Amino acid sequence: MTMEKPKRRSRAWFEKQDRDGFVHRSWTSKAGHPADEFDGRPVIGICNTWSELTPCNSHFRELAEFVKRGVLEAGGFPLEFPVMSLGETQLRPTAMLFRNLASMDVEESIRGNPIDGVVLLMGCDKTTPALMMGAASCGLPTIGISGGPMLNGKFRGKDIGSGTGVWMMSEMVRGGQMTQEEFTEAEGCMNRSSGTCMTMGTASTMASMVEALGMSLPGNAAIPAPDTRRNRLAQLSGRRIVQMVEEDLTMDKIMTREAFENAIRVNAAIGGSTNAVIHMLAMAGRMGIELTLEDWDRIGSQMPCLVNLQPSGHYLMEDFYYAGGVPAVMREIQHLLHLDALTVNGRPLGDNIKDAPCYNRDVIKPFAEPYKEAAGIAVLKGNLAPDGAVIKPSAASPQLLKHRGRAVVFESIEDLHERLDDPNLDIDETCVMVLKNCGPCGYPGMAEVGNMPLPSKVLMKGISDMVRISDARMSGTAYGTVVLHTSPEAAVGGPLALVRNGDMIALDVGERSLHLEVSEEELARRRAEWAAPERPVRGYAKLYVDHVQQAHLGADLDFLVGRSGAPVPRESH
Ligand code: FES
Ligand code: MG
Repeated sequence: MTMEKPKRRSRAWFEKQDRDGFVHRSWTSKAGHPADEFDGRPVIGICNTWSELTPCNSHFRELAEFVKRGVLEAGGFPLEFPVMSLGETQLRPTAMLFRNLASMDVEESIRGNPIDGVVLLMGCDKTTPALMMGAASCGLPTIGISGGPMLNGKFRGKDIGSGTGVWMMSEMVRGGQMTQEEFTEAEGCMNRSSGTCMTMGTASTMASMVEALGMSLPGNAAIPAPDTRRNRLAQLSGRRIVQMVEEDLTMDKIMTREAFENAIRVNAAIGGSTNAVIHMLAMAGRMGIELTLEDWDRIGSQMPCLVNLQPSGHYLMEDFYYAGGVPAVMREIQHLLHLDALTVNGRPLGDNIKDAPCYNRDVIKPFAEPYKEAAGIAVLKGNLAPDGAVIKPSAASPQLLKHRGRAVVFESIEDLHERLDDPNLDIDETCVMVLKNCGPCGYPGMAEVGNMPLPSKVLMKGISDMVRISDARMSGTAYGTVVLHTSPEAAVGGPLALVRNGDMIALDVGERSLHLEVSEEELARRRAEWAAPERPVRGYAKLYVDHVQQAHLGADLDFLVGRSGAPVPRESH
């Protein structure tokens, strides 16, 4: 018995010999496609987040040309299309506000068009989860290509890391250990090639997550953007997606529960960003996979960190690539991975990593002698965070992981900036800094402001870390004893909203607890006095706050959770 192959969805546009077929073919052909190209070959959509407003993705038009070359070589029909691009450093009030919007753009662009397979060109932080989420809700055969990290920053003979170096040097200027002139000079030394931040920030973390999930060719995450090996990987990915369409290798066969568990373990092993928690929960939600915040602690928190990269460690992504990259890390932890998880090259993960070499043991440590023990994301619970909060112990100060201190409360990020350097601010290094109204609804968009700068009078003492708690996120390039994603957030009336100056807060990461030492009666009294902050009343911001889920669920819009597949929509004319 022969099985009939499923008909490609692009045929619904290009096959018909009637008025509609005329319209679809005729208009497409003006970009230079002779009639014989509409013969049923797989149409590959190349989803591009190129934008001059997203400097980290500025080389994507060139990258797309290599993808097209590969698609053509394999007998496919490449069609590149733009989607909303999110530049982490430019977009206000925060790029995260628009992650879900961009994902809708991706989803509808794929489903509404004659596309059989998808290539995702992803780079700067939010472009990766946005494209993965949108594509997941369609579920077609899909392959990810990351833009790759920049070359290492070089400043006065030393390496400087994106983000991490900025946070560090700006505190040095405020603490009097660096001049303004040196600080300004560093500006031109940090971003010296195309590509994403070259620390293990959110962009590199998410690129590693895509690779760990099996959604890119092996090695994709770490190849520096200007290294020509990235162009060749793009070309090979272009060839491969055509085969994936022929094999009907859809996303659900790769993005399984096992794949997500692998990715959580890899996140710990690379010292990855806390932002991955939210993005991966949202991606799993789109796939219909049950993944919870607790899974992050259960599966990942006991994992060692093997990778000595900023912000948890010393080196940068260029070093990581030359040392062996993600495949070398996965080989080290292979006894903890689901090795039969299928990947986009059609092979199980175990095959891809079994011989992965490591060329530098100072950058990628062996599992038996890790860089840091038990370094994965820890999930805290307690009366201050009934639905959870997260901390990245590998980026925190060990002596602060168990700490009890007096709360100094800031009602908003503007309030913090206004009063931080006030000599009369009643604060010292034993205090706990609390920042409210920076969560999904409160900001809105859950900005990366959780790594609050320290008061200058504390910095002047040479102290560089304090316990900080908020409902915000922090940049993946940031560090410190910072409790994030407190859920429910202050703006929806979570307990964080009720904290007042002088309250005692007890953090115990070992016990996974975060406790506000205020009686239930007093909290109830404060709750009755609490008034919700104003919300946006129109436009996307209104849609967002009306529908965004809390951080512990991934901060997706409630009506976007799940997937609709990619059935061919009805004819447009
Ligand atoms: Fe784009 Fe860091 S700002 S990757
Ligand atoms: Mg960021």
